[in-house]
Amino acid sequence: MSVAPESSRSVVKITSAVSLRGDFHLPGDKSISHRSAMFAAIGAGTSRLRNYSSARDCQSTLDCLEALGIVVKREPGLITVEGAGIDGLRAPTQMLDAGNSGTTIRLLSGILAGQNFTSEITGDESIQRRPMKRIIEPLVAMGARIEARESNFAPLTIHGGNLQAFTYTPPMASAQVKSCVLLAGLFTDGKTTVIEKTPTRNHTEVMLREVGAALQIETAADGQHISVAGRQPLKALGDYTVAGDLSSAAFFLVAALITPDAELRLRHIGVNPSRTALLDVLTSIGARIEVENPRLAHGEPVSDLRVQSSTLRGDLELSGAVIANLIDEIPILAVAATQLDGTLTIRDARELRVKESDRIRAIVDNLQKMGVVVEEFEDGLRLSGKQKLQGAAIESYGDHRIAMAFAVAGLVAEGETEIHGAEAASVSLPEFYQLIANCRA
Ligand code: S3P
Repeated sequence: MSVAPESSRSVVKITSAVSLRGDFHLPGDKSISHRSAMFAAIGAGTSRLRNYSSARDCQSTLDCLEALGIVVKREPGLITVEGAGIDGLRAPTQMLDAGNSGTTIRLLSGILAGQNFTSEITGDESIQRRPMKRIIEPLVAMGARIEARESNFAPLTIHGGNLQAFTYTPPMASAQVKSCVLLAGLFTDGKTTVIEKTPTRNHTEVMLREVGAALQIETAADGQHISVAGRQPLKALGDYTVAGDLSSAAFFLVAALITPDAELRLRHIGVNPSRTALLDVLTSIGARIEVENPRLAHGEPVSDLRVQSSTLRGDLELSGAVIANLIDEIPILAVAATQLDGTLTIRDARELRVKESDRIRAIVDNLQKMGVVVEEFEDGLRLSGKQKLQGAAIESYGDHRIAMAFAVAGLVAEGETEIHGAEAASVSLPEFYQLIANCRA
């Protein structure tokens, strides 16, 4: 594998692998890292975050918090955040920059809506194309005044303060929307409730409990009612180690499954049930994945994962509630399905069209470039394996998960695969290509 510059974009070249071996830790979960930094900032006292994600997205969160007056010390393997307490953020003197990170802009907007000052937040080109109405609407209903391009897109100008407690049922399954509203709820005088029709990742709820917030979760006919009381004092996270990122692990799991002679052990990976549908789905088609040493760390389930090359067989029809649980893993699952003796059908995954790229288009386009027969739906895709992959010039569309999924495809393709815009991987896992190279060595 070699990296060659192509103006500011890089090209990574990949050839097929016969064998993969490795035993390693992965950087901290991106979703948990963002939340740990934000809760550390509004908690009272010092938080020392270990294994904080090296993802560019999570650095964007730290940059924004610093611009809001939070003292952050960055050392190798350790991020120290001096919490300013629930009323401690200061008005920024510049536009906040979320970079490529949807979680940064959407969650932070919930916090910004609760402040007695005006702030502006934006991000890169991709962020400026992603829908923000989904958070603007509930925050405006709570009393914030928000200006946005075409009432939907960043930059957002948020005039915060005087928020009212609110009960909200998000129209789409989104942990970012849920978390945004719960965070805003912390800055009200009453009880804010999010009614979730389809469960999504619950890291915000887990961490609210870690910082000592009273949180109520009730199951009712219309979904889960998640309620948080406003104006509660929040503790610092103290010494907190972020679990390894299962969504990053997914690329290594699939790489090992489809490579002829492979065995990998991934240590201390987060296996929160709201994120593990991929493991269940892969196991159901014969993947040899063992979940070892299950334990709890800061309220989050964690395990070591052992994976070996496997024969994948069976049909997968994924739709409805399971989609939210494996939404970020669909690109790599589609790559796995090319080596499946069976058919993968994905429906109800319209949300993929408004991720860092239009992921349905990006998956289908790149699979076709590799010679794969695949059907595209408005809300998903269908493909049957086993199909032979041809090395091809892949376009990342500036999307980290597309770049990494197709780098894995390159491991089983004939000839050479080029990932154009390969640098996108650093949005969630800057170490990705090096780790793959280490596993081949
Ligand atoms: C995330 C939620 C999901 C996911 C994203 C991270 C989070 O987005 O795709 O990568 O940390 O809350 P949505 O809430 O838009 O589904």
